[in-house]
Amino acid sequence: MIAVRFADKKKNTEQDSDWNQMRNISRAQIRGEKNVEKFVINGGHPLKGEILVSGAKNSAVAILPAALLLDVPCMIENVPDISDVKICLKVLKGLGAEVKALGNDTYWISCRNVTDYYVPYKEAKKMRASYYFLGALLGRCHNARAAMPGGCPLGARPIDQHLKAFEILGAKQLIEDQQSDIVELHADRLHGGRISMDVVSVGATMNAILAAVKAPGITIIENAAKEPHIVDLANFLNYMGAHIKGAGTDVIKIQGVEKLMGNAGEGSQDVAYRYAVVPDQIEAGTFMIAAAATRGDVLIKGVIPKHLEAISAKLRDCGVTVEELDDEEAVRVCASADSKLTATNIKTEPYPGYPTDMQPQMATFLTIAEGESSIIENVWEDRFRYVNELRKMGAEIDITQNGAIVRGGSGLSGASVNACDLRAGAAMIIAGLMADGCTEITEIQHIERGYADIAAKLRGIGADMKKV
Ligand code: EPZ
Repeated sequence: MIAVRFADKKKNTEQDSDWNQMRNISRAQIRGEKNVEKFVINGGHPLKGEILVSGAKNSAVAILPAALLLDVPCMIENVPDISDVKICLKVLKGLGAEVKALGNDTYWISCRNVTDYYVPYKEAKKMRASYYFLGALLGRCHNARAAMPGGCPLGARPIDQHLKAFEILGAKQLIEDQQSDIVELHADRLHGGRISMDVVSVGATMNAILAAVKAPGITIIENAAKEPHIVDLANFLNYMGAHIKGAGTDVIKIQGVEKLMGNAGEGSQDVAYRYAVVPDQIEAGTFMIAAAATRGDVLIKGVIPKHLEAISAKLRDCGVTVEELDDEEAVRVCASADSKLTATNIKTEPYPGYPTDMQPQMATFLTIAEGESSIIENVWEDRFRYVNELRKMGAEIDITQNGAIVRGGSGLSGASVNACDLRAGAAMIIAGLMADGCTEITEIQHIERGYADIAAKLRGIGADMKKV
C-alpha cells in the first residue's frame, strides 16, 4: 500500500487520470494498434559529405528543468528537436512556466509564475530525465513530486544516490514505502552538505547540483560524474550567477546563492540570457560509426573533438582514419573500400572512458571488423537486447556474463528489426546502412527520443533511408 502524505485531492485525481490514460494506451497496444511508423533503409551506400550535429539530449534535459531555478527569463539555444525535449517543455508549461519557441532550436523560458511542484505521472514515466525536475523543484519550491522516472529498459535503474544527495541537503522523503512509484520530497530549509556518491552517477551528480545551487552554505560532491553534460549544466548555472567549481572533475564545490539572475536587476523580466547547449557527443559518435561502417568519408560538424576522444581512439584501433579538426569544430571519419578493418576490445566506463551509450553502435560496426572483438558493459546490466535483432541480419555475436563477443568479418543482410531502446535503435540504423538489401526498423519512437530528424540528416550524406 502506498502511503501518500500531504498529497491533496486534486493531485490524486490528476494521477488517477494519468493512470487511466496509461491503461488506455496499454489496451490499444494489446489490440494491436501499435506505433506503426518505421524507418526503411536500403543499405550498402558509403556515406559521404558533411553532417551537422544537434545540441546534446542529455544536457538539454537537465538545463531545461534548471530554468526553474532562475529569477529572470532565459533563452536557451541549440536545443535538439527530439521527443524527450518536447516532454520537458510540456512539463515546464504544465508547472506554469511561459515557454516560447523562437525558431527550431531556441526557447525563451520564464518561470516567474511557477508555484506547482507536481510533475504529471504520465510525463515522468516517459523519460529518465524527469528526475531532474525533482532536483530543480526542490531547489525552487523546497517541494517536489514525480513518479519514478521511465526511460530505456537497461536493467535496474535505481535513484538511491539522488535521494541520498537530497537528504544530505536537508530534504525528507514524504513517501517512505520502498515499493512506491511516486517520489515526494519536502525541505523546511535546504542547506549545503558533503555528498560522497557511492557510484559514479550522471543523474545523481546533476540532481545534487540542481538542489544545492541555491541552498545556503557550501556543498561538496565527491566521486562526481565528469561527463560533458555535467560541465554544461554547471556552465549554464554559473552564467546565471551560481558559484559551482570543479565540474568536469570528480569533486564539485558549490557555494549556495540566493538568486540566479545573471547581471539583471532585481525584478527584471525582460532580460533574456542566452545560453547554447553543447553538441551531442553521442549523436556525433553515432555518425562517426555510421561513416566508418559504410566505408564512407564524412565530415561531422558542430562537435567538440575532445568529447569524442574515446570513440575516435577505438575507431583508429580498428583501422579507420579519424581526423580531429579543432578549429573547425569537426571530425572527419573515413574508411576506404579496400582498407582492412580489424577487431578491438571495448569496456564501457563513465567519462572519459568509452561511453555505454555508444556500445550497441560499436558492436554493430565490429561485425565487419575482421577477428573477434570483446565488449564488456560496466554501466548497465541489460544493454544487449539489440543482439537478437542483429542476429536476424546475420551477425555472429555471443552474449557473455557482462558482455558480448563479436565474431566479425562477414557482412549483414537486410531484415525487419526492432529498436529495443534508443541506442539499440541507433545501432539498427547503422546495421541497415551497412547491410545488403532492405532493412525495416520498427518502434522508432525510441530513436526519436534522442536523434533529431535522423532520416533527413543521413539522407543528406547519401543514405537511402526514409520514415514511412
Ligand atoms: C545517464 O543516465 C544518461 N541519461 C544515460 O543515457 C547514460 O547511459 C548514463 O547516464 C551513463 O552515461 C541521461 O543523461 C538522461 P547514471 P543516468 O546515474 O544518469 C547506477 C541514453 O541512451 N546508479 O550515470 O540515469 C546505475 O544503475 C541514456 O541517452 C545507482 O546505482 O545514469 C548505473 O549502473 C541511456 N544509483 C550507473 O549508476 C543511482 O542512484 C550509472 O547510472 C543512480 C545510478
